[in-house]
Amino acid sequence: MPARLVVLISGSGTNLQALLDAARSDQYPAKVVAVGADRRDAAGLIRAEKVGIPTFVVEPGDFADRAAWDAELAAEIQRFDADWVVSAGFMRILGPAVLSQHPHRIVNTHPALLPSFPGAHAVRDALAYGVTVTGCTVHLVDDGVDTGPVLAQQVVMVEQSDTEEVLHERIKAVERDLLVGVMQQLCSHDVEVIGREVVIS
Ligand code: GAR
Repeated sequence: MPARLVVLISGSGTNLQALLDAARSDQYPAKVVAVGADRRDAAGLIRAEKVGIPTFVVEPGDFADRAAWDAELAAEIQRFDADWVVSAGFMRILGPAVLSQHPHRIVNTHPALLPSFPGAHAVRDALAYGVTVTGCTVHLVDDGVDTGPVLAQQVVMVEQSDTEEVLHERIKAVERDLLVGVMQQLCSHDVEVIGREVVIS
């Protein structure tokens, strides 16, 4: 049985699309069972709707406080019986309700080589710092901001002419394959987390 992925997005959803494309193959050990967003206008929701995958939206502004938002997001994810939750361009910090419901089973993809440049503006921050190499990181989510155990990283060279948009697109081209590959590994093996070490056997 393929593993059940719930994918969380905030924007265009090209990483989601890469997972949807990969999961079209019977050989891929996972399928996307639902897509959640923190904003109704997240363009990536249409990618899921096009292929008949259920979507849900949990907008923080609709809730009295962060705890209520977190509880509702956890409840929505719970409905889909997820084996793994994938934060693929989801621009929110997950709260304790979601984290405790899926211990060591939430994956995030980030457009920088962590621990450098965590947070919401990683590509901008890397350019502003003047690095000559950057990249992307796929990691497990813990209760910090982009601090969980690293699963895989890939390097991308910075060009002198790069703008934030151009560099981010080049990172995303690498990131999509990295995420698809990591999910394939995780969903076809036993996964044990010992401190910062992720043992895949
Ligand atoms: C990706 O580059 C992802 O790493 C980044 O948002 C982009 C989403 O692209 N996430 C973060 O910056 C989280 N801190 P997509 O919507 O086309 O998949």
